[in-house]
Amino acid sequence: MTTNRGQFGSRLGFIFAAAGSAVGLGNIWGFPTQAASNGGAAFLLVYLILAFALAYPVLMAELILGRYTHGNSVAALSGIARGPVTKVIGTSTGLLGILVASMILSFYGIVAGWMLGYTVAYPLGVLGANDAANWLTGFTIPRNLILMGIFMLMTIAIIMGGVKEGIERWSSRLMPTLIITLIALAAYVLTLEGAMTGLRVYLIPDFSKIFSSQLILSALGSAFFSLSLGVGTMLVYGSYISDKEHLPSIGAQVALIDVGIAVLAGFLILPVMYVAAERGVEIFSASGALLSEDTLILTVLPELFATMGTVGIALATAFFFLMTIAALTSSISILEVPVAFIVERFQWSRKQAALVAGGLIASLSAVIILDFERLFGAVIALSTRYGQPLLGLLLCVFVGWVWQRNTLLAELQKNDPEVANGLFWRIWPVYVRFVCPVIIAVIFYRSLV
Ligand code: PHE
Repeated sequence: MTTNRGQFGSRLGFIFAAAGSAVGLGNIWGFPTQAASNGGAAFLLVYLILAFALAYPVLMAELILGRYTHGNSVAALSGIARGPVTKVIGTSTGLLGILVASMILSFYGIVAGWMLGYTVAYPLGVLGANDAANWLTGFTIPRNLILMGIFMLMTIAIIMGGVKEGIERWSSRLMPTLIITLIALAAYVLTLEGAMTGLRVYLIPDFSKIFSSQLILSALGSAFFSLSLGVGTMLVYGSYISDKEHLPSIGAQVALIDVGIAVLAGFLILPVMYVAAERGVEIFSASGALLSEDTLILTVLPELFATMGTVGIALATAFFFLMTIAALTSSISILEVPVAFIVERFQWSRKQAALVAGGLIASLSAVIILDFERLFGAVIALSTRYGQPLLGLLLCVFVGWVWQRNTLLAELQKNDPEVANGLFWRIWPVYVRFVCPVIIAVIFYRSLV
């Protein structure tokens, strides 16, 4: 395989990078309110079970395959093919992954740009630059384009630095900052009037809601998005792990951190919403559901911060900073997918590849911004509702059915000679062969009808 590839310098560095990819806007934007509207702790329980019983096995499939081939996603999938037909399917799956990854980054970059804008707008408002602050938070085409462009340049700059000096270094700086900011924010918010009501809504289980199949499907969908599965991000990160590392346990740590942060975000978001309600901010939609996603982040929270004076400004700045960091450690992992492919397939320099791939994706974002109403939601649905599950399915079929069992076992034995007698080897291969493909196929079918 390719020589001179980057490699993560330490186990912790890898964990920060992979957890950084997993922990993103999805965890804070979507999970907490979804939990609150769907049975609170009962939803949490379903989410935990799905994350470990289904998303974790797929994560392991990506990590193991990546490390085995030490190559980009296209090389990895075509590398384990058994003949010309599976080779073509493997190559196409890898390329489709790159396409879907690019689509995800194209909408992610727009949202992340908004987060960046809000982070800067609050301090600017304090300094009296109200026009600038209003421009940064107003929904206009020039503002959307410029902020997306700046965010994409940040992403490109980190990826240009390489695996160790770029991805690992920045993830190791940003992830601890994210965790500390999140805990500090949650701790403060929990002291405010109304917070306990939010906590109750979050933590009191309502089991009547969790038996709806719709709910289980949406929990699985968010577990997949949240763990960055299907598009090759984890595969490519896995390809930079040293052969000395014990994959099943580092994979489990990454999944634990991702789920842990989603749960922790619930301790911030739900209390915050009920603090807002206490202060007269509307937190329910006309249909009685909790407001969520963009309305939550861009309307409810700013209205709440506005009632809090100086403290509100500090809180708002910290909150949007948190969102920006979460987005950045995810966006770099997405850009790495096409970049690794271009560098290895066409022998371009990493800098060139990052600029060209990042530039093309930013152009796609620009097209979305110019026709926002029509394209934004469509690109999200196409990439996350259809693209990710379909790719996850193909991946499981490849790892479960095409890849020779002996080579797979040999890969795991590299650092764990006893693996064949362990629990992981007894359960995981069966899961990837049968359980995961069937369940993903069901979700996929359901999302089509
Ligand atoms: N996991 C990221 C989040 O939760 C999003 C993501 C999806 C990142 C796919 C990489 C690949 O926001």
